[in-house]
Amino acid sequence: FQPKVMAGKRILITAGPTFEAIDPVRGITNLSSGKMGYAVARAAREAGADVTLISGPTALPTPHGVARIDVQSAQQMMDAVNRHIDGQHVFIAVAAVADWRVVNPSTQKVKKTEGGAGGAKGPDLQFEQNPDILATIAARTTLAGYPYCVGFAAESENLLEYGSAKRERKGIPLLVGNIGHHTFGQDDNTIVLFDEHGHTILPQAPKLTLARQLISEISKRISKHSLF
Ligand code: C5P
Repeated sequence: FQPKVMAGKRILITAGPTFEAIDPVRGITNLSSGKMGYAVARAAREAGADVTLISGPTALPTPHGVARIDVQSAQQMMDAVNRHIDGQHVFIAVAAVADWRVVNPSTQKVKKTEGGAGGAKGPDLQFEQNPDILATIAARTTLAGYPYCVGFAAESENLLEYGSAKRERKGIPLLVGNIGHHTFGQDDNTIVLFDEHGHTILPQAPKLTLARQLISEISKRISKHSLF
């Protein structure tokens, strides 16, 4: 028997990569498969939460009982998070959000011939920064501590040092570090939890096992908050 530690809780999760358009058929993305975010959504639902999953493009099935909203770009993900954040107890940002977007994506396919913007050198792309979704939501945390914000970090080196610095920079109570950058697309992961007391390593295991452990850790932390 598994106690439903998240019964009555609303949890918003971002997952997957984002896709930043260059033109109607091309874009910039990354290797995130969405597996970890979807595992977290499934684990949260199993624990009894009311789960909303805002997902970039992935090939994964929607976990049972989870409300899924599909987006492409970081800006669309930010907008969807803004539309759904009210009343959430927990926000878990697992998505690998593109740091930059193309300033002026072409409304027509860029041609490589016929004097189009392409040509031999390729299009001259200009970039601007995307919003930091997690930091934006964390900055709006109420005095009561809503929503409890959890971030992810994929650092290739010095994770222990960068992880705690990133947690503080993002202004969040809990940050999950992936050990190494070989985790994209894999079924297993090793993670480190950073909170105000230090760090805890969760040894290598399938992403779903780690996701369940993470949900249990979040549940312990929010249950210390009398208002949750
Ligand atoms: O700064 P960095 O991208 O390494 O931070 C990763 C964490 O921040 C992840 O939780 C990710 O989902 C979140 N993030 C975000 N919006 C961004 C960039 C990162 O929510 N634009």
